[in-house]
Amino acid sequence: MCGIVGYVGKDKCIPRILSGLESLEYRGYDSAGIAYVVNNLVKITKKQGRISNLKENINIDEESYVGIGHTRWATHGKPCQVNSHPHRVGKVTIVHNGIIENYETLKNELSDYDFVSETDSEVVAALVDKLYKEEKDVKHVLAKLKDYLIGSYALGILIEGDDKIYAIRKDSPLIIGVSENGNFIASDVPAILEYTNLYYLILNNEFAVLSKDDVVIYDENGQISTKNLLTFEGSREAAMKNGYEHYMLKEIYEQPKVIMDTIKEYISDVDTLKEKMNGLEKYEEIDIVGCGSAYHVGLVGKSLIEKYGHIRVNVDIASEYRYSDHIYKDNHLVLVISQSGETADTLAVLRKAKEDGIDTLAIVNVVGSSIAREADKVLYIKAGVEIAVATTKAYSCQLIMLSMIAMYLGINSGRLDESIFEEYKSLDKLINDILDDTSDTESVAAMIYKNKDVFYLGRKIDYAICMESSLKLKEVSYLHSEAYAAGELKHGTISLIESGTPVISIITEDDIRLKTLSNVKEVCARGALSIVITNEEVLDKDVYDKLILVPKLHDLVGSILVVIKCQLIAYYVAKLNGCDIDKPRNLAKSVTVE
Ligand code: M6R
Repeated sequence: MCGIVGYVGKDKCIPRILSGLESLEYRGYDSAGIAYVVNNLVKITKKQGRISNLKENINIDEESYVGIGHTRWATHGKPCQVNSHPHRVGKVTIVHNGIIENYETLKNELSDYDFVSETDSEVVAALVDKLYKEEKDVKHVLAKLKDYLIGSYALGILIEGDDKIYAIRKDSPLIIGVSENGNFIASDVPAILEYTNLYYLILNNEFAVLSKDDVVIYDENGQISTKNLLTFEGSREAAMKNGYEHYMLKEIYEQPKVIMDTIKEYISDVDTLKEKMNGLEKYEEIDIVGCGSAYHVGLVGKSLIEKYGHIRVNVDIASEYRYSDHIYKDNHLVLVISQSGETADTLAVLRKAKEDGIDTLAIVNVVGSSIAREADKVLYIKAGVEIAVATTKAYSCQLIMLSMIAMYLGINSGRLDESIFEEYKSLDKLINDILDDTSDTESVAAMIYKNKDVFYLGRKIDYAICMESSLKLKEVSYLHSEAYAAGELKHGTISLIESGTPVISIITEDDIRLKTLSNVKEVCARGALSIVITNEEVLDKDVYDKLILVPKLHDLVGSILVVIKCQLIAYYVAKLNGCDIDKPRNLAKSVTVE
């Protein structure tokens, strides 16, 4: 939800800020803008639409060495020029990522100011300006800000007549990058990787003052805080497109590697597995909570953990769970799943569970993210930087992580033995085989891309995979799609099936194979265009117009292959429809608002 970048140093700031914004565009792309200092005066250029539009309208060679930039995902006020960041009030210019919940109250209290935008962010600029007039020292203002603002914020601030960048965060991500030639603020590490891989993590209510050759970080009481300088492990190339037409495709193709990286981290041998998962067997009940794809993967986890671990698992959407009542067992675990580790609703669930005294575990991709820092225990996946708004490789790694939890519980309880490790070892080869020949998924895409509605049918794990596949298709191709538990369709929705309606059925589990096939026959009888994805030859040729076969694997890992087929179908449909695949309309990668 919005990306912010700032640079102060010996080099011109505008090219650096633009390149940083480009790598943060996944966070929002409704408008973009930069404020930069020229001859001690703050100038602002901002434009509705993509960063490319800003680029065409700004002088890249401007003699400016300090500036802050923003790429917006609109929350308060429509995407338009006046609501775009940066916002200037008095001597203060800010870029803001987050939401100020009490902005209406503050706006009333700041009635001396004339507000021009509909945003909550302009109110913050006015508040900082007012406090600065009173305090005369920005550091005092930043130390006080938490007493005024309710909500989430990462702020980059310029003060007229000053050549520094001031930055503060609460519940929205912020890092400080350092390099020989200058210093950066950014919402995420990829924004600085062209220039440096060294950074500081800023925690809630901490703030920083950046000058061209110095960074000073303060704790929430305004005392100087000494921090460890971190080194980003991945390469800049890993965060780039690497010749692929889209990040989504690149990330689909990275799956063999990142899935194996995740597996090797946890099951290089049985002792490693036991050490990493130790203690999970003590829980009587587990609540898995996440949003979007993270919720869907939780549903796969439920099936596997209940089957192999014999532990009751409940799965819920974070925005629902956080406002529901819970009956906790004595040994109860709340397991949150989040790629970014910053999703507002998931973070709120984690905090609530901790307040209630419940043990928490997080499956996270982004190292050092809020959820990773605050959970009692973290199991990191190794998906690497994921840029495309639609998650692919992080989802698969989350699925493998849940599979390994179920496997650990299975081994621990004697339902499985160590020979099960073998099932994980050749996954990269099998996935590569799928990625080597995409003719089947491309032809399915060609069969369905002109349709208005697509249905996915499956039972149990297959149903959970259908939900994820349906989301992927909607998200990137804008085709309307629904996932249905195969046995449920006839209770209403089958009325929507007419001649030529695409129905993609997923059938991988032996115990429900014939049941789902009967449901497929029911839709075929109503004229559906039937596409069946399965791991066993289907003898009755009347139940499909197109069959996609995947190798038959143990159910702990088998659904990965089907997921990848469905990711490819969504990708190719979106491509045929000319969609903006990496940045679908109205979306943002990291959802840091409620
Ligand atoms: O970063 P998170 O895993 O917490 O994000 C959760 C969802 O916003 C995310 O999975 C979303 O549904 C994806 N865009 C789906 O592709």
